[in-house]
Amino acid sequence: MSETLAGASSFPHPDDDPKLGDIVVSQEALERRLAELGAQITTDYAGRAPLLVCVLKGAVLFMADLSRHIQLPVELDFMAVSSYGTATKTSGVVRIVKDLDIDLGGRDVIVVEDIVDSGLTLNYLLKNLAARHPASLAVCALLLKEGQQKVEPDLAYVGFRIANTFIVGYGLDVAERYRNLRDIRTYIGSGGDDS
Ligand code: IMP
Ligand code: MG
Repeated sequence: MSETLAGASSFPHPDDDPKLGDIVVSQEALERRLAELGAQITTDYAGRAPLLVCVLKGAVLFMADLSRHIQLPVELDFMAVSSYGTATKTSGVVRIVKDLDIDLGGRDVIVVEDIVDSGLTLNYLLKNLAARHPASLAVCALLLKEGQQKVEPDLAYVGFRIANTFIVGYGLDVAERYRNLRDIRTYIGSGGDDS
């Protein structure tokens, strides 16, 4: 394989998209905060082997980076949910599209979420996971949109509290794009989808 990536030039430079706005959370701020969260989880779960549950797809970059800051024998698993509703608003009715492989019975489970907006998706997930009898169940959310929650999920760890604007990057998408941005930016003019 050559080191010159075929097709790399077709990646749109963020500066070429007028809808991409200001940086809300910089790469440096993300790196700093993830190290803090990882250290906190390492302390809180000392002597245990927590199971990190990534909610696909938005939390995949967050979980990958966070897990490397946790100095414990963590395990990783993934689940995907799809919410019914319009393109921009979650209804709270959630369908599991991909379930976990690992049995949660007796495990210390940490749900890793990208962003809590209405909180409805997380609320449904937590009820579903609690019914599987984990030893403990906690949530680590990278972002919390302030003042938007219809239900108040109990969040053990929150990376950043942000204002109610639509954002993309670091896992968050608009129509599946921009998940690979290294920072988190505003995006004007679309609510995107809820995956
Ligand atoms: P909730 O059920 O309203 O809390 O919706 C949470 C889900 O909606 C998140 O896991 C994201 O997938 C998606 N979401 C909410 N706000 C944004 C945003 O600003 N950008 C991208 N996705 C978002
Ligand atoms: Mg999500």
